[in-house]
This record gives sequence, C-alpha cells and structure tokens, in this order.
Amino acid sequence: MSSTVLPFASPWLSLNVCLCVSPAEFMPILGTNLNPEFISVCNNATWAIGEICMQMGVEMQPYVSLVLNQLVEIINRPNTPKTLLENTAITIGRLGYVCPQEVSPMLQQFIRPW
Ligand SMILES: *[C@@H]1O[C@H](CO)[C@@H](O)[C@H](O)[C@H]1NC(C)=O
Repeated sequence: MSSTVLPFASPWLSLNVCLCVSPAEFMPILGTNLNPEFISVCNNATWAIGEICMQMGVEMQPYVSLVLNQLVEIINRPNTPKTLLENTAITIGRLGYVCPQEVSPMLQQFIRPW
C-alpha cells in the first residue's frame, strides 16, 4: 500500500501542510465525516475530498465508492444548506473530472435539467 504526500492547500489558510499518510487510511475517515447532521464537519470533509482528489487524480479511483453515495445523497436531500450544496456539487464535479468512469453511472441520480 503506497503512501502519498499530499500538499493540502486549505482555502482558509494560505498554508500548505503535508499529510504523510496513506489515502487508504484517511479516505474512509473522510467518508464517515460526510454526515449532514454535522454541517461544519461535513462541509470540511467534502471540501477536503475535492482538494485531495485534484492532487491524486486517477489514483483516487479506489476511493470514489467510499464517498460518492453519501455526496449524492447530500445533494438530493431537502434542506441541505446552500454552502454545503455548493461544496458538494464542486466535489462531485472534481470526482467526475478525475474518475469519469466511476462517476458517470451516477449522473442520473444528481443531474438536473436547467
Ligand atoms: C471547518 O474548517 C474551518 C476552516 O478551516 C474551521 O474553522 C472549522 O473549525 C472546521 N470545522 C470543524 C467542525 O472542524
């Protein structure tokens, strides 16, 4: 199991820290934190997944299934706060950008005509 050094750029702090741990360890934790009962935690986990995904690219593939169902559930839930909706949409978009084959079968569950 390889470990990845991720330069993680927080949108709130102009500071880069290194997460010298394996995605196999932190991805399930991030997935668990996708609980919309806790808006702030959920928002942060959602944002982190999107950022990590842009760093990992196609390496994200094994982890998409750990987070995608919860993200789709959150985006379809009534009364999800707007900020969380925005972050969720961005993160689903980022997942689709790096792993289209994993995300495209779910399109019907979140796409809307506009
Ligand atoms: C979410 O991130 C913000 C900004 O970094 C931080 O202030 C806040 O404490 C975080 N929320 C939780 C629940 O960790």
